Amino acid sequence: SRKPRLAGKRVLVTAGGTIERLDPVRYLTNDSSGKMGFAIAEAARAEGADVTLIAGRTTAELKDNGIRLVRVESAEDMLREVTARYPDADIVVKAAAVADYRPVHRSESKIKKKGEQLTLELERTTDILATLGAQKNGQFLVGFAAETDNVAHYAMDKLKRKRLDLIVANDVTQEGAGFNVDTNVVAIYGPEGLVDQLPVSAKRAVAERIIDHIVARTGGKGEQ
Ligand code: PMT
Repeated sequence: SRKPRLAGKRVLVTAGGTIERLDPVRYLTNDSSGKMGFAIAEAARAEGADVTLIAGRTTAELKDNGIRLVRVESAEDMLREVTARYPDADIVVKAAAVADYRPVHRSESKIKKKGEQLTLELERTTDILATLGAQKNGQFLVGFAAETDNVAHYAMDKLKRKRLDLIVANDVTQEGAGFNVDTNVVAIYGPEGLVDQLPVSAKRAVAERIIDHIVARTGGKGEQ
C-alpha cells in the first residue's frame, strides 16, 4: 500500500456550527451538520496525520476514532481552543460555520415574554481565521467560503485578507452543495487564483481532493 502522505503532520480541523446563547434554553446557530469538516479530519487521518478536530454543534457521525475530538459551543470557545493549538499545528482547515454575530446580552434566566416585538442586539464575533492568518508562523492555512453570489470574487478576497494558502468555495445555492447534504460542489483557489473545480461529489471525495492539494503544496516532507 501507498505511504501515508501526512505522517508526522499535525492537522487541526474545525467542523459544525457554533451556538450563541440568548438565555439558558435559547440560542442562535446555523445548518452546518459537521459532515464536511468530519470528512476532512477522516481523510487527513487516513493519510497518517495526527488530527485534532474542534467541533461545534453537529448532527453527523464521526467514524474514525483515531481523531482527537474537542467539543465547543460558541465562536469564542472555538477561538480559544483553536488558537491554543495553533502554534503546534502544521496544517489548519477551517470548515466550521462560525457565527459572525452573537447576542450582546446573555440572560442568566429564561427571557420572559413581553410586548408584541422583541429586538435582539447582536455584536460581531472574533474572526478566527483572520486571527490565525495574522499570527501565521509556517502553518498551512485553509479556509472555506460559503457564498451565494460572486463566488470567485469573495473567495479571493477572503484568501487575501485572511492570508490563507488555499480557500475552498462552495456556492450554497447549488443543488447538492453546502450545508447538511452529503455532497458538495466546490472550487479551490490559491494565491494565484482558481486551482481546481469539482463537479458534485461526496464530501469524502471533496476532502480527499483538498488533502491532495495540501500535500502538493506542503512538499509532503521536511520542515515547512
Ligand atoms: O457542515 P456541513 O453541513 O457539511 O456543511 C459544510 C459547510 C457549508 C458549513 C462548509 O463547507 C463551509 O462552507 N464552511 C464555512 C462556512 C462559513 O462560515 O463560511 P464564511 O464564508 O462565513 O466564512 C469564511 C471562513 O471564515 C470559514 O473558513 C469560517 O470557518 C471562517 N470564520 C468565519 C467567521 C468567524 N467569526 N470566524 C471564522 O474563522
